[in-house]
Amino acid sequence: MGLLQELRYYLKGQSTSIPRYVVEQTLMTLLGGLPSLVGIGLRGIAYKAILKAQGVPLIEHNVRLLSPANIRLGEKVYIDAGCYLNALPGGISIGAGTSLMHGTIFHVFNYRDLPHAGITVGKNCFFGEYTCIRGQGGVKIGDGVYTGTQVQIAAVNHVFADPNQFIKDQGITADGITIEDDVWLGSGVTIVDGVTIGKGTIVGAGAVVSKNIPPYSIAVGVPARVIGDRRDPEAVKRFSNAQVFFGELEELRK
Ligand SMILES: CC(C)(COP(=O)(O)OP(=O)(O)OC[C@H]1O[C@@H](n2cnc3c(N)ncnc32)[C@H](O)[C@@H]1OP(=O)(O)O)[C@@H](O)C(=O)NCCC(=O)NCCS
Repeated sequence: MGLLQELRYYLKGQSTSIPRYVVEQTLMTLLGGLPSLVGIGLRGIAYKAILKAQGVPLIEHNVRLLSPANIRLGEKVYIDAGCYLNALPGGISIGAGTSLMHGTIFHVFNYRDLPHAGITVGKNCFFGEYTCIRGQGGVKIGDGVYTGTQVQIAAVNHVFADPNQFIKDQGITADGITIEDDVWLGSGVTIVDGVTIGKGTIVGAGAVVSKNIPPYSIAVGVPARVIGDRRDPEAVKRFSNAQVFFGELEELRK
């Protein structure tokens, strides 16, 4: 690759056009590092010029946005410091009231013109610190989905059919991942491509989900196995005597 070609390749991975790249990088350079409410306020106004947001987006300092023209944010979306959103065509859509905590990565990673690439997240979801979503095959997440820290959702697999060729040169498959409403994924869960997790499901910390999980399941382990059903009174009877916490901050968020 010649230098010019390399430059074109690089810029295509950064933005949807060169004029947009200039505006985006200028705004992010001037405002991206400003901490505190002042920074959040200025970005909330200025970044509306480079992404699609309803209301004022709440974006902390040092958030990296690539191809922000393909990012849609609902009302009161909160993006914590150090998050990285790469919306190379296919796009990222985040529903109202959803929070991305520190270091969360949403990366569509569509360098190969995959038809279903993209990441769509519903309303009032919460992504724990350092959660990472790769959206090549399309990732669809419903409303009220909560993740612990460092959850991996990877809608892609490498082809390894030919043992005499480097895996990296054999292409990828990408079928997509669906996570329905009201799912809680414990810390360190990994979800591989092609999986659907049914509504109301709980996946225990550290599980690797390689097959579909039916609605309202409790699933744990590697590979994840269903060990209970939330609709079974026996499976949840311990909560009848448990001390349950909500607190003032939770009330304020409502
Ligand atoms: C799955 C979980 C919700 C508990 O579900 P539960 O229905 O109450 O399960 P129990 O505690 O009754 O355990 C049932 C069995 O599953 C096992 N188990 C529980 N959690 C497990 C996990 N994460 N991985 C593997 N096995 C697990 C238990 O050891 C027990 O095994 P046994 O029957 O051989 O004794 C909980 O263990 C968990 O993983 N929570 C996630 C915590 C987290 O990540 N928090 C971050 C904040 S969002």
